[in-house]
Amino acid sequence: MKALIYRGPGSKVLEDRPKPKIKDPGDAIVKMMKTTICGTDLHILKGDVPTCKPGRILGHEGVGVVDSLGPGVTSFRQGDKVLISCISACGICEYCRRGMYSHCTTGGWILGNEIDGTQAEYVRTPHADTSLYHIPEGADEEALVMLSDILPTGFECGVLNGKVAPGSSVAIVGSGPIGLAALLTAQFYSPAQIIVVDLDDNRLGLARQFGATCTINSGDDKAAEAVKALTGGRGVDTAIEAVGVPATFQLCEDIVAPGGVIANIGVHGKKVDLHLEWLWSQNIEITTRLVDTVSTPMLLKTVEAKKIDPRRLITHRFTLDHILDAYETFGHAADTRALKVIIAA
Ligand SMILES: NC(=O)c1ccc[n+]([C@@H]2O[C@H](COP(=O)([O-])OP(=O)(O)OC[C@H]3O[C@@H](n4cnc5c(N)ncnc54)[C@H](O)[C@@H]3O)[C@@H](O)[C@H]2O)c1
Ligand SMILES: [Zn+2]
Ligand SMILES: [Zn+2]
Repeated sequence: MKALIYRGPGSKVLEDRPKPKIKDPGDAIVKMMKTTICGTDLHILKGDVPTCKPGRILGHEGVGVVDSLGPGVTSFRQGDKVLISCISACGICEYCRRGMYSHCTTGGWILGNEIDGTQAEYVRTPHADTSLYHIPEGADEEALVMLSDILPTGFECGVLNGKVAPGSSVAIVGSGPIGLAALLTAQFYSPAQIIVVDLDDNRLGLARQFGATCTINSGDDKAAEAVKALTGGRGVDTAIEAVGVPATFQLCEDIVAPGGVIANIGVHGKKVDLHLEWLWSQNIEITTRLVDTVSTPMLLKTVEAKKIDPRRLITHRFTLDHILDAYETFGHAADTRALKVIIAA
């Protein structure tokens, strides 16, 4: 089968690999229909993710059809269409029992990282009963690819952790796929203001189409002042960090209102200064989270009921044969205006 292989920092190749086999009783082999590329795959290719070793098939998102099942799987049959979660969860370890699937002792974020992933014709998914989801009849499969990772990430790490509430004020720093997923799902709670901050005017334009009440280009270093001006000098109740660099976390520290929450989503590679010398008195909370994907069943229902339309995040389509072009397009988003690319296997 064809598969996209990580060869080490800066290097990837489309190669023939043997079709995966069932290893554990809880496994499923899924024939991929649609997959995509995540910003985190680009982090891996930069060499930022040491757990992902050369030789690994990348990808942790997608939908497909069950090809074969281990003897321990009870909830799926051959031929079932499934959504693959980016997080594998056993459902019974201490962390899974607490709903913290991201820290499952035999799972977590392993797909396309510690085990072979979804950018291939077939993938082996461990803990299939608790890591795959049935795709409802007639559902839009491309839209559901957005449910493997980015929608639960924006919602759980940003909106839920950030305690977005009716009438509240929210700033989302970063208007990439994750920031936009937070923007779409924040609107479940009817906040009064959603201010989106980025350096890319194209992405800020999309944010306005997706429901931002105001957007700020932070290129002039005056974003904190602009947010304060928009919020009567107070700052925002929820500051969602969806970039992963020191400057954007710092901006969240500058714009959080007394009693507010800084909800970090970004993957940080560098240390960030925490200004407790003034934040100590501001009654704020700071949260961090690796997505658990506990909200996936709920998000599936909202997509089915057309309360949100994650298809709007898809800008480009490729076939698996052309996945290297898909990486080029996704990796140069400022020029190509790419958000999410769909790859048909
Ligand atoms: N916590 C989790 O479980 C989890 C899961 C998935 C992704 N992530 C992380 O979420 C972050 C966002 O993901 P994405 O796919 O949307 O990334 P992305 O790179 O597509 O988007 C980031 C956006 O930030 C903007 N940006 C960059 N520097 C900026 C600055 N100084 N000021 C303002 N805006 C700036 C860029 O223009 C871009 O639009 C990444 O760090 C990713 O690794 C976290
Ligand atoms: Zn991802
Ligand atoms: Zn577990």
